[in-house]
Amino acid sequence: MVVPTTSSTPKLIGVLGSTGTTGSAVLRSLLAPNKKPSTGDAAIRVRALVRNVDKARKLFPVEDVEFVQIADFKDLDAVTKALKGVEALYAMTPPICEEQILLDAVAAQAAHVADVKHVVYLSSIDANPTSNLKIIRAHGVAENIYRHYDYALSILRASWFMDNFLTQTGGIYASSKSRDIPYIAASDIGRAAAALLLGPIPKTGKTATFNLYHPQVLSNENIAEVMTTSLGKDVAVVTLPGSTIAEAAVQTMGMSKFTADAMVELMEAGFDESYETANTLPGYKQIVGTDPISFEEFVKVNKAQFK
Ligand SMILES: NC(=O)c1ccc[n+]([C@@H]2O[C@H](COP(=O)([O-])OP(=O)(O)OC[C@H]3O[C@@H](n4cnc5c(N)ncnc54)[C@H](OP(=O)(O)O)[C@@H]3O)[C@@H](O)[C@H]2O)c1
Repeated sequence: MVVPTTSSTPKLIGVLGSTGTTGSAVLRSLLAPNKKPSTGDAAIRVRALVRNVDKARKLFPVEDVEFVQIADFKDLDAVTKALKGVEALYAMTPPICEEQILLDAVAAQAAHVADVKHVVYLSSIDANPTSNLKIIRAHGVAENIYRHYDYALSILRASWFMDNFLTQTGGIYASSKSRDIPYIAASDIGRAAAALLLGPIPKTGKTATFNLYHPQVLSNENIAEVMTTSLGKDVAVVTLPGSTIAEAAVQTMGMSKFTADAMVELMEAGFDESYETANTLPGYKQIVGTDPISFEEFVKVNKAQFK
């Protein structure tokens, strides 16, 4: 049964992937000011669907979040049941390229069956169902699956995350074909998603698509320069063949070969189309009202987290 929202029942917001980079940022932004000024009671309720409740509770040892364990996110009945009563949902899929469309299709249909009113879906810049690039194509197909249903849909087309550099050790690993691109901090994806989730439910059936990136287009050398200055340590660009980078991602990050190859494919292609064409879409500022943080600010704020 869907729990109706009344003035005494705070809006219930669902979050997928809350133990990951963007989902945790969304959860942090949602919980930051979770108080009604008049009474001090929680302004919203949050339900996070996770694979491991203990891991999630350690990350978020707070009472404002209800964690629901899902053994298999391909289980449509389980995901649908967990979404009952949720009004607005942050939807994302893990970076497992070969499973992405199936996981997105299950989440999209579950949200429909559970009568979710507004889905905020994390996609990729230049998402396009006919792209030659696997990750871009998968997000393009997924966007269309979400569009198929009649809930309000906000699509966040994020560029590469600044956070990707937090886990690199010994330098910036790049293919000789790596391209200059703009970046976005996961914390800003969290802010943008939270603003949409907390806002009024858009008119049902309405889709809004946003591009999320800071306008600076950076080369790997630019990135290394900013890190060297801000971290006070020499950071070099280590240029390797794409196949070696993919192999390292399999060995050190536990990525499947399919996903690692897809990631390198994207790294070398830059984006399918010029991201400048994407400039015609509204961006972070239209959602949040301020600019996203630059890479320089990101490094300063996250100095302690760099490996
Ligand atoms: N990285 C980038 O630069 C970039 C740029 C644009 C778009 N994207 C898109 O962003 C998405 C990834 O977001 P993210 O970085 O926030 O992800 P992430 O940090 O890798 O987190 C993945 C989340 O999904 C969960 N998960 C992992 N495997 C799962 C499975 N088989 N079934 C269900 N849940 C699973 C993880 O839970 P556990 O903690 O239990 O493992 C975790 O909560 C991808 O769709 C990617 O294409 C990435």
